[in-house]
Amino acid sequence: MTFHLIEKYAPNAKTACDIGGATGVYAIPLALSGKDVCLCDISQKEIDLAIQKAVECGVKLQVKKCDVFTDDLFLGKTFDLILCLGPLYHCHNERDVREVLSKISLIMHSGSVAILAFLSKYAKLNKTSRKTQIDKDDMRNLINFHNFINESNSGLFIFREKPELPISYVVPEQISPFLKSLGFIVEDVVAADVFEKCAPTAEYSEIVRFTELAYQLGRSAKLNDGNHIIVVIKK
Ligand SMILES: C[S@@+](CC[C@H](N)C(=O)[O-])C[C@H]1O[C@@H](n2cnc3c(N)ncnc32)[C@H](O)[C@@H]1O
Repeated sequence: MTFHLIEKYAPNAKTACDIGGATGVYAIPLALSGKDVCLCDISQKEIDLAIQKAVECGVKLQVKKCDVFTDDLFLGKTFDLILCLGPLYHCHNERDVREVLSKISLIMHSGSVAILAFLSKYAKLNKTSRKTQIDKDDMRNLINFHNFINESNSGLFIFREKPELPISYVVPEQISPFLKSLGFIVEDVVAADVFEKCAPTAEYSEIVRFTELAYQLGRSAKLNDGNHIIVVIKK
């Protein structure tokens, strides 16, 4: 879905910054397609794997280890395409969310496109409902999670501390007004995982046609049908 959105909204991007880019799932193919790509991540382990992959693929990838909540990204530099597919659902609180968005705004110019991923507050419900059999642990987890959401009663965002990284959820239908209130133009909001992954045996042309259908359904279906809510913004 992300590549579908990149192709739709930023087909001519020459420079890209992947914030929370991990092992380069998006950064490496973007570099392979000829873009000048920077990848930032808080984890040195992920960065090392991205460097290794870039070497194996023979592409140039600029990397930066940084915590997007506290560190500067690229002072004075802007990018045609910005991906932030991770850090926005690992925020401790709303201040972190606003901080990431203001950092993104700083590296955008007037034609830039940024693609952001949020985690829906219905993610656990969706995941459980897709299981062929729901066992007692699934039931307990889902009930606990929904009790937690109801108790936190916190508006647009729900923040959950975890031993490794915090997890933040959003109420999908409220994300667009929030981003507009910060001055962004919201181009698209798509529930990204209306379907599970395509089988690797599927033909490429079938996958392309199917992804277009998933995109249309993700836009028109109620947003609680997807776990990841992908938002395309401009400045
Ligand atoms: C769920 S992974 C997503 C990876 C990749 N963007 C993708 O979509 O496949 C989230 C990534 O965000 C990174 N991350 C989390 N918090 C971060 C922060 N504060 N600053 C920079 N990176 C962060 C993690 O290290 C991890 O690699």
